[in-house]
Amino acid sequence: MRRILVTSALPYANGPIHLGHMLEYIQTDIWVRFQQSRGNMCTYVCADDAHGTAIMLRAQKEGLTPEEQIARVQADHEKDFSDFLIKFDNFGSTHSEENRELSAMIYTKLRDNEHIAVRGIRQLFDPEKEMFLADRYVKGECPKCAALDQYGDNCEKCGATYNASELKNPKSVMSGATPIEKESEHYFFKLPEFQGFLKEWTRSGTLQTEVANKLAEWLDSGLQEWDISRDAPYFGFEIPDAPGKYFYVWLDAPIGYMASFKQLCDRSEHLNFDDYWKAGSDTEVYHFIGKDIINFHALFWPSMLHSAGFRTPSAVWAHGYVMVNGEKMSKSRGTFIKARTYLDNLDPEYLRYYYAAKLNSRVDDFDLNLDDFAQRVNSDLVGKVINIASRCAGFVKKAGGHLASELPNEALLNEFVEKGDVIAQHYEDREFSKAIREIIALADLANEYIHEQEPWALAKQEGKEAEVLGICSLGINLFRQLVTYLAPVVPSMSNQVAAFLNVDDLNWDSRTAALTDHKINKFKPLMNRIEKDKIDAIISKELADAKAEANSAPAAESDSSLSEPIADEIEFDDFAKVDLRIAKIVKADYVKGAGKLLQLTLDIGESETRNVFSGIKAAYEPEQLTGKLTVMVANLKPRKMKFGLSEGMVLAAGPGGKDLWILEPHEGAQPGMRVL
Ligand code: 2FM
Ligand code: ZN
Repeated sequence: MRRILVTSALPYANGPIHLGHMLEYIQTDIWVRFQQSRGNMCTYVCADDAHGTAIMLRAQKEGLTPEEQIARVQADHEKDFSDFLIKFDNFGSTHSEENRELSAMIYTKLRDNEHIAVRGIRQLFDPEKEMFLADRYVKGECPKCAALDQYGDNCEKCGATYNASELKNPKSVMSGATPIEKESEHYFFKLPEFQGFLKEWTRSGTLQTEVANKLAEWLDSGLQEWDISRDAPYFGFEIPDAPGKYFYVWLDAPIGYMASFKQLCDRSEHLNFDDYWKAGSDTEVYHFIGKDIINFHALFWPSMLHSAGFRTPSAVWAHGYVMVNGEKMSKSRGTFIKARTYLDNLDPEYLRYYYAAKLNSRVDDFDLNLDDFAQRVNSDLVGKVINIASRCAGFVKKAGGHLASELPNEALLNEFVEKGDVIAQHYEDREFSKAIREIIALADLANEYIHEQEPWALAKQEGKEAEVLGICSLGINLFRQLVTYLAPVVPSMSNQVAAFLNVDDLNWDSRTAALTDHKINKFKPLMNRIEKDKIDAIISKELADAKAEANSAPAAESDSSLSEPIADEIEFDDFAKVDLRIAKIVKADYVKGAGKLLQLTLDIGESETRNVFSGIKAAYEPEQLTGKLTVMVANLKPRKMKFGLSEGMVLAAGPGGKDLWILEPHEGAQPGMRVL
């Protein structure tokens, strides 16, 4: 019996689980259940990833303590996972005592091994918020191409990478303040010292070939020391010998795998922490991850474990991103589907099946095509697999509910049993789509057999009862083989089938003994077809949520309408809904703390004035605007912004930044006139 520990990446405790996340949890859960079906001791742990600036800020925004925030999110995560039939042996949190102790212990070992360097670095600091700014919290002009509104690490326009301090005209995303440079002491993990170790480790069968090749490029071009500390305020663990300094979230996140397992060991009689984590252990440890976090798992993590004297993972397996209908998941298309929205409308096993039917062991992106999803589930699971039982069960029941003592075509049954070895190898190799293809090919064979034998026709003839029972008993046996092979994918259905077949278990080995002279129970429908309107309901709900979010969240300071992509073609009726009016700018002011906005008071005729925040500060001084006529959207739903309510939108043209011109109508126009 193999002893295996398996993990999936720890989800951040600042947002809901969506179907992109679910690919990984379903992939891992299927693999774990497969191992268990084979009789291996396979343990599956996970946790919420609870630390970091994003979570701290999210809690502030919600008016919660970080602890309250992460507890709330964790409860939702656990419910989503359990409703998707993800069977963790333990689900912890990186903000746990176990993780605090293990992180401190591992750090201390790294330090004692002289793998930690301490030195001062200069970083941007928000003088209003009094905090250092990570690259994603600074925006400004690209130092290479001067594109506006670029983050502090790289330019989306020209692709240049740089330090935040190189940005021109930088602004804190949090307060709009101009950051200052400030020095602070940071702690670094000396990754370059692990170059030799990593060259060997990454080539020792621990990674997919394409991943190992990519890492080889990085290893050849040289590694950099890794900054593992962050200054207060930060939600995380304080570094033991450095008050006011915190472990960077990615330092203690993978240690969270160990900590969650430790929690489990502490309450289990059979599991021993050291058996799994001591150097040279003969147990197996696998991490399932997404391709975006390979460097953390295949460079930093094994090096940390190596230095601290622990075993390294047996393998790290990466998958690609989930696309929906061939495109990136998108809130505005309603395809950023939350696990909960899906669960409110559809059976989790449909998605588990579809993911399995298309997953392989490579890092390719995965397309969740919603039409194909419905078609595949309906035709394979309902139309082919379940159909076998529904065709046979009634005849067995009529004959007394007892399967025949001899089966008419043992060769066919043996073929099904033997295929189990090939299918098992595919599961083992994470080639789930190949496993499913084999299983559905068997289902086709079973259906052909029943179709040819026509038990329904025989049942109408006299004296054929035994023959009918034999055919249908074989049909039920073939069905049992199929469900045994599908059980890791559809565990709830397989439990129902075990109850119908009146057997304790459908584990892999139990399949070798045929079910003969055996009482079975009443057959109940196992699964319905996917109705298209359920999928439509999911999309509609996500669209409604996206709309509500856009309306309720105080809009970001920047006027997002300026950077939104051009919409698809619209109907004339849609256009006719837009109330365009001539407005006179009677007042224009700077907005305190806002990097991009001016506050405009607009006269729109009939003594009505409007307050509008407009992202044109880089293009105009307020005094240039006063008295000008312009065009505004007068019936735009008022938007609550950080600085007040914005009651409409002024139209402007140009690429943005300094190059932006408000539309100025001919002087004959008067405030309040409609634009036709
Ligand atoms: O990328 C993420 O979502 C991280 N929260 C994954 C952490 S995995 C592990 F290292 F903890
Ligand atoms: Zn640029």
